[in-house]
Amino acid sequence: MPNLRILVSREQIAKRVAEMAAEISRDFRGQSIIFVGVLKGAAIFLSDLARQVSLDATFDFIGVSSYGNRPTPSEDPAGHAAWDSLGEVRMTKDMDQSLADRNVILVEDILDTGLTINYILKLVQAHQPKEIRIAALLDKPSRRKQPIHAHYIGFTIPDAYVVGYGLDYAERYRNLPDVCVLENQ
Ligand code: IMP
Ligand code: MG
Repeated sequence: MPNLRILVSREQIAKRVAEMAAEISRDFRGQSIIFVGVLKGAAIFLSDLARQVSLDATFDFIGVSSYGNRPTPSEDPAGHAAWDSLGEVRMTKDMDQSLADRNVILVEDILDTGLTINYILKLVQAHQPKEIRIAALLDKPSRRKQPIHAHYIGFTIPDAYVVGYGLDYAERYRNLPDVCVLENQ
């Protein structure tokens, strides 16, 4: 069984998410926004963040899948090859609403190589929104392959495979309340 070590506790997450929500509320004061969550990892972060934002807001979700990005149960969670993105991202669920002329907050669980978010940014940009901002709970800048400018980042973390608070390993552990490092025994 893999070992789970808490990297970011539920208390730290709650405090930081409240700060991020306050920042978004301040930045878009008097305007409405749409949160676009990236399934499935961002679902928990989006629900906590959105409930603390004091603005007129709606939700939408987009689904993407990155070939080679997700480890299979047989792969070693401590080995980079197990989750290195091959750079091929495809959409599995489109947005339901038009984003034309809207203030879009793209909500991601984690920024890693940057390939996924850049792919999604291009899709969103094609809608010609008024403004697009990225809110990510976690950032692993050491693994970046494509540059990203994110306005709202919760925590910058070292290069480790993390699970919990929405993040999975082969679809498991999303319901853990803390962000944990998945280690071998
Ligand atoms: P990128 O395209 O390499 O930036 O990958 C971003 C996506 O990879 C995230 O939305 C996650 O779904 C997944 N991912 C990257 N690192 C981790 C991790 O440490 N744990 C769980 N999922 C991760
Ligand atoms: Mg994701």
